[in-house]
Amino acid sequence: MEGRILKCLLVTVFGLTVTVTGGMTPAAEQLVIYSGRGERFTRPVARAFEARSGVKVQSLVGSPNQLLVRIQEEGARTPADVFISTSVGVLELAREGNLLQSHSSPAVDRLPAAFRGPENKWFGASLRVRAVVYRKGRVDPSAIQSILDLAKPEWEGKLAITVSTNASFIGGVAAMVAQHGEPAVRAFLKGIRRNAGVNVFPGHTPIVSAVARGEVELGLINHYYFYRAIAKDAQAPIGIVFLDQNGAGAPVLIAGLAILKEAKHPEAARRFVDFVLSEAGQKVFAEVNYEFPTNPAVPAHALLPPRAGIKLAPMAATLDAGKIDRAIDLIKAAGMR
Ligand SMILES: [Fe+2]
Repeated sequence: MEGRILKCLLVTVFGLTVTVTGGMTPAAEQLVIYSGRGERFTRPVARAFEARSGVKVQSLVGSPNQLLVRIQEEGARTPADVFISTSVGVLELAREGNLLQSHSSPAVDRLPAAFRGPENKWFGASLRVRAVVYRKGRVDPSAIQSILDLAKPEWEGKLAITVSTNASFIGGVAAMVAQHGEPAVRAFLKGIRRNAGVNVFPGHTPIVSAVARGEVELGLINHYYFYRAIAKDAQAPIGIVFLDQNGAGAPVLIAGLAILKEAKHPEAARRFVDFVLSEAGQKVFAEVNYEFPTNPAVPAHALLPPRAGIKLAPMAATLDAGKIDRAIDLIKAAGMR
């Protein structure tokens, strides 16, 4: 456990940015969230919950891996009630470390079993699909069927990827290990490293911009970065490919949340989880960030195709925390930045 958490920490690029929102109001019921998601998302969901529940939310925003280490170090003293993560793989590590508590409710029961952790100890809140953004007019999207196609020599110098320490990059590789096996992933990493060359970006937003400007022809991203760009500029000369639709299904990452075993406000924490899984909470994920809700009753944003129309890789692939370790080893072995 410790080894895994430390390994996660070693690949964390960004420092912990501490942002405490909301003041202390001793009279009101409170909730403390450690959020591995940015302010851009954490604030609207916290505000929506406060408005509905009257509970005052304080949040600490940082990288999921660093927050996990912090929760472990704080032990029984942790002020955190809820842990939000961009990847349920990190929540699974917390569960294995006995840092979480179970929760059952009608809202949890409605969540498909694939999106719930063992013993109902974590809950998937949204889906992020690994996808390709391409420059219209320069790339024939039918040339990219599988994620493995990105490693073909024809894309040398034309592909953009994030730094390999990016959590979504690692999560996507972990899903590929489960889907395609290690030899295929090794060859894939070698190929995309060559194809990307110097086009290794700190995050997904600059990848989409570089493709839109025609500096590169395609990029490996999470789907919502494409829709953010299209929402800002419907005329941007970019398109999206959902991968492996005729095969293994698109690699997918599940973002989610959990209640800490040492929560000081467990009742507020349970209400928060139920809110996030409710229609109102799920709409925040769909509307603020163009993610696919895990609650099947809530539709994706109108810009997106319906989730039922996209073939996703088996969810189990993203849940196996052991695959994250393997993915990191393979990425390091490929010598990626
Ligand atoms: Fe992201």
